[in-house]
Amino acid sequence: IEKGGDIGLLWSVHGDMSYSIPEEMKSGSVIGNIANDLGLDARRFSSRKARLDMDGSRQRYCDINLNTGDLIVAETIDREELCGPKVSCSLKYELVLEKPLELHRINVQVQDINDNSPTFSNTQINLEIRESAVRGTRFLLSEAHDADIGHNAVQKYSLEKNDYFVLGVHTNPDGGKYGELVVEKELDREQQQEVTLLLTAVDGGTPQRSGTVVIHVTVLDANDNIPVFTQNVYKVNLPENSPLGTVVSTVTAIDADEGPNGDVTYELGRISNRAGKLFLINKTTGEIKVIGPIDFEEETYYEMSVQAKDGLGSASNCKVIIEITDVNDNAPIILIKSLSNPIPEDVLPGTEVGIINVQDKDSEGNKQVRCAIQQHVPFKLNPSFKNYYSLVTTSELDREIISDYNITITATDEGTPPLSSSKTIHLSVSDVNDNPPAFEEQSYSAYVTENNKPGSSMCSVTARDPDWRQNGTVVYSLLPGDVNGVPVSSFLSINGDTGVIHAVKAFDYEQFRSFKVHVVARDNGSPPLSSNVTVSVFITDENDNSPQILYPAPAGNSLMTEMVPKAALAGSLVSKVIAVDADSGQNAWLSYHIIRAQRDISESDSMKQNLVISVKDNGQPSLSTTCDVYLLISDNLAEVPELKDMAYEDSSKLTSYLIIALVSVSTFFLTFIILILAVRFCRSRKPRMMFDGAVAIPSAYFPPNYAEVDGAGTLRSSYNYDAYLTTGSRTSDFKFVRSYNDNTLPADQTLRKSQSEFLGESIITLNVVGNTEVRLESYFEY
Ligand SMILES: *[C@@H]1O[C@H](CO)[C@@H](O)[C@H](O)[C@H]1NC(C)=O
Ligand SMILES: *[C@@H]1O[C@H](CO)[C@@H](O)[C@H](O)[C@H]1NC(C)=O
Ligand SMILES: *[C@@H]1O[C@H](CO)[C@@H](O)[C@H](O)[C@H]1NC(C)=O
Repeated sequence: IEKGGDIGLLWSVHGDMSYSIPEEMKSGSVIGNIANDLGLDARRFSSRKARLDMDGSRQRYCDINLNTGDLIVAETIDREELCGPKVSCSLKYELVLEKPLELHRINVQVQDINDNSPTFSNTQINLEIRESAVRGTRFLLSEAHDADIGHNAVQKYSLEKNDYFVLGVHTNPDGGKYGELVVEKELDREQQQEVTLLLTAVDGGTPQRSGTVVIHVTVLDANDNIPVFTQNVYKVNLPENSPLGTVVSTVTAIDADEGPNGDVTYELGRISNRAGKLFLINKTTGEIKVIGPIDFEEETYYEMSVQAKDGLGSASNCKVIIEITDVNDNAPIILIKSLSNPIPEDVLPGTEVGIINVQDKDSEGNKQVRCAIQQHVPFKLNPSFKNYYSLVTTSELDREIISDYNITITATDEGTPPLSSSKTIHLSVSDVNDNPPAFEEQSYSAYVTENNKPGSSMCSVTARDPDWRQNGTVVYSLLPGDVNGVPVSSFLSINGDTGVIHAVKAFDYEQFRSFKVHVVARDNGSPPLSSNVTVSVFITDENDNSPQILYPAPAGNSLMTEMVPKAALAGSLVSKVIAVDADSGQNAWLSYHIIRAQRDISESDSMKQNLVISVKDNGQPSLSTTCDVYLLISDNLAEVPELKDMAYEDSSKLTSYLIIALVSVSTFFLTFIILILAVRFCRSRKPRMMFDGAVAIPSAYFPPNYAEVDGAGTLRSSYNYDAYLTTGSRTSDFKFVRSYNDNTLPADQTLRKSQSEFLGESIITLNVVGNTEVRLESYFEY
């Protein structure tokens, strides 16, 4: 329903709105409330980024108030500047809302108000009229121009009252009015040579506006014919961008007179200001030429009148209509209407990240635009309304692989040749904490020697997290737990930043040999992600335990005496020494030595012998323990003197004893080396068959915690110990050395070769030679 000139809504169809406003409204004036008219919630205008988009890039003129939903005038609109002589003048907008994308066409029709007065192109109209002009002769007057249209344009003319002329008013085919001076009373040059009149043009607006021009008539003697145009209307098509100097058209008027009276001159009459800057007519040839840039996008149509005048001032008019044709001279314009940047890496495929609008100022085919983006990016353009596209993701994004994209949008129109343009959007992908820290190893092992320094570092763990900043910052900690009932934190600590693990205290191999802890790596995201890894700590042995003699019982507690029958044969078993070492490996490899005999065995006291046996392990440095073995060589207990007598010593040969002992030790050392080599050699060639049996020693022999003892109370192979065979009586020299796996023992010796019975024992045999010499042989048997 047209409300004619009033402000307000004209019509609304399918969400398209049309408003009508008069020109020259003050900036800020309200045109209407779009929110109400479209049934939208004005409170959501801001969050939906409501805005008015206008085709092309001219001034905006209108805007919306996001708080109220009002359509307002943003700057004063001059209809004449905006639309010139066009009858219909409207501003076309699109109301764009996002989330979801919504588009409404808004049409604002600008109504004319009478703000322009009629004007004549010249301040004076000069006419030369022959005195013989008869009554009724007509002279065309140039038309007054009023920038307003319709009713507000020129409606009538009035002529100052005079004796000679009256005014005739006519209407052009385009609706414009023009006047003619009509001779009412014949002129007499002899009476009056000149006549000056005032012509007034009035428009139809309220209030009425008018413009005047002076008509100066010179009365002449001669007679002539008026020029006649070959066409009333000249209509031409002119491609835009025609170069300067292009001849648009040539108008021709013929005057039947001869001589100067027949010389026709041309001039442009009624013409808009804009057209006046673009076209020029050659006064004598009638050629209309281009003198300014012709732009189809500025104006598509020009209309002007041309006046032809002969030498005597008789004139006639014709009309020239120039229609500008489009040339594909505008590349499409790509406008980013909205863009979410950065986008989180966890957006689902198909998420809209931006809205693109393409425009082309050309018309028809030259305006048709196709839009595309480059391959190999996880985005695509979905055509939306008209020239709108949404940019959506096509697959999942992963910031850890690609953190930003340059998306190039190319728009191509369908002109010949086509024009295209492109625009690159930089899109960043923002981080989401989607990667837990990952340890570099599946598991870690740390080896530490017992009796370590508390606080020393043992090993370090490393976990990587590819997320960004705090989402990728890894903090290490120990998972609470216990080792034999003691919290792990009292054994180990971890540096939260570096992952270096420190021992909190000194470890004791004899207490435990290994334990496991779990280290957690956690990132600083919210919520944080974590992973854990097992760290196995292995404690290695140090020779910190001396051999412990189980049998005979330690000296001092009880004096145990072994009885040796006088008739004992060489190789008879006289006693056993059993020792253990809490360490392991080499550190528990024991060797037995008789380091001295207390005295010579003589006729008189040959029955008492006191031997000191040293048990030595093979650690670095090695540790040793000694024990005493008392031997009583007698068949009858009654013969035995007081045992304390054994304490009386004859030290006469002590020095030589020491020398012998020294030589023995040196020899032993040499033999030991040879033995080691032999053992190595044999081990490499033979299976260690001697380690497969169980030990007959009752478990009661061993101190608690001494060793890992399995359910049956048997020692594991790693607790077997080696011994070195030597002789130790003071007069005897080194008798033999035998490797534990050597099978060359004499058959007659009192060896019990049952491995199960003797594994791990030391057996000392005493060999009595003659009356004076007691030879002690010791060997070891597995
Ligand atoms: C995107 O373009 C910018 C500027 O041209 C450049 O610095 C950047 O490396 C590009 N990024 C990608 C992912 O190609
Ligand atoms: C970390 O991830 C969260 C989501 O998990 C995200 O909100 C945050 O912005 C990210 N931080 C950084 C620094 O990227
Ligand atoms: C340690 O990691 C495993 C899987 O690697 C997981 O099942 C377990 O819950 C984690 N433990 C803790 C305490 O985080």
